[in-house]
Amino acid sequence: MDRPFALLAELTYECPLHCAYCSNPLELSRYTDELSTGEWQRVFTESRELGALQLHLSGGEPLRRRDVVELVRTGRELGMYSNLVTSGLGLSAARAEQLREAGLDHVQISVQADEPVLSDRLAGTPSYQRKIDAARTVKELGWPLTVNVVLHRQNLDRIEGILALVEEMGADRVELANTQYYGWAWRNRAALLPTREQLERAEQVVREARERLRSRMQILYILPDYYERYPKPCMGGWASRQVVVAPNGDALPCLAAHELPLPRANVRERSLEWIWEESPLFQRFRGTDWMPQPCRGCERRELDFGGCRCQAFQLTGDAARTDPVCHLSPDHDIVTAAVRRANDRADDAAGPHEVALTPRPHPREVVL
Ligand code: SF4
Ligand code: FES
Repeated sequence: MDRPFALLAELTYECPLHCAYCSNPLELSRYTDELSTGEWQRVFTESRELGALQLHLSGGEPLRRRDVVELVRTGRELGMYSNLVTSGLGLSAARAEQLREAGLDHVQISVQADEPVLSDRLAGTPSYQRKIDAARTVKELGWPLTVNVVLHRQNLDRIEGILALVEEMGADRVELANTQYYGWAWRNRAALLPTREQLERAEQVVREARERLRSRMQILYILPDYYERYPKPCMGGWASRQVVVAPNGDALPCLAAHELPLPRANVRERSLEWIWEESPLFQRFRGTDWMPQPCRGCERRELDFGGCRCQAFQLTGDAARTDPVCHLSPDHDIVTAAVRRANDRADDAAGPHEVALTPRPHPREVVL
């Protein structure tokens, strides 16, 4: 069995932003009983003992946690490389100084668009300028900066402007990530799924930017898998490289596994070692023995691991089926139909932005 190389600690689902593509669960109210500082410190220690070297502090917005500086310090004491995944809101100069002193190694800031009106609309709150200010603080303190941009139907046409903004922010690396349809993004898929024409144009712009910025900025372009022939090797295979821990202590093999009808595993009840090695949740799709046809007999089964279990569940109701993104899957027509609808709508008089977005609410606004 492989050892995890990274812990993704989702410290809180509290967030000042309301992005309509957020991968956080729809039922946010289940996660308000957050792990305490001491519980998180134990989880970090156990993950380090399991072999994890990277610590990603995420959410929601991790800066909403008052103890984030203390948690960064713990990561440093354990010898982990720490990365703060933030909207940038809450990263004041004073807080940044404290995080620097505590040993934070890297900062990742999200960007929604290259101009304030669209950016603030997509984020559901005024935030554009604050992100730019946060990026300036990050560079002044000498941190490496990654900018993450979730791409979709409503911002893909602005890709040149987005790249120019990211360059101006001084990013060392940009992740241009086409939307993955989990959580709120799944609910908003019709408003987010781009057209083929939008994607082809964006890919051309990214190719040219890569050439032009080669020595200054690494550009990572994460493909829109609905338009691919083969699925992505999600998480590098189920429970093989990373552990995600949700704010309430639920341990997961990936960001979206809370949606699957599988037994829970929680760090309040079990050690991370037991969860990684023995829990039914982490065992369920590890390796290749669980695979159905056509994956079982396919030469790519060790390359893409049959695709994404959460996407298979989302689209077919059965997490053990081949990811329907694969053109060999018996369920592939589900994906082609969604793509066809997205492209047909491009010809409508209303244009590509006609479907309204449902913003992600604040955790305490969710009424079940
Ligand atoms: Fe991957 Fe399965 Fe498709 Fe083969 S059949 S390419 S293993 S998803
Ligand atoms: Fe869960 Fe892909 S997101 S396996």
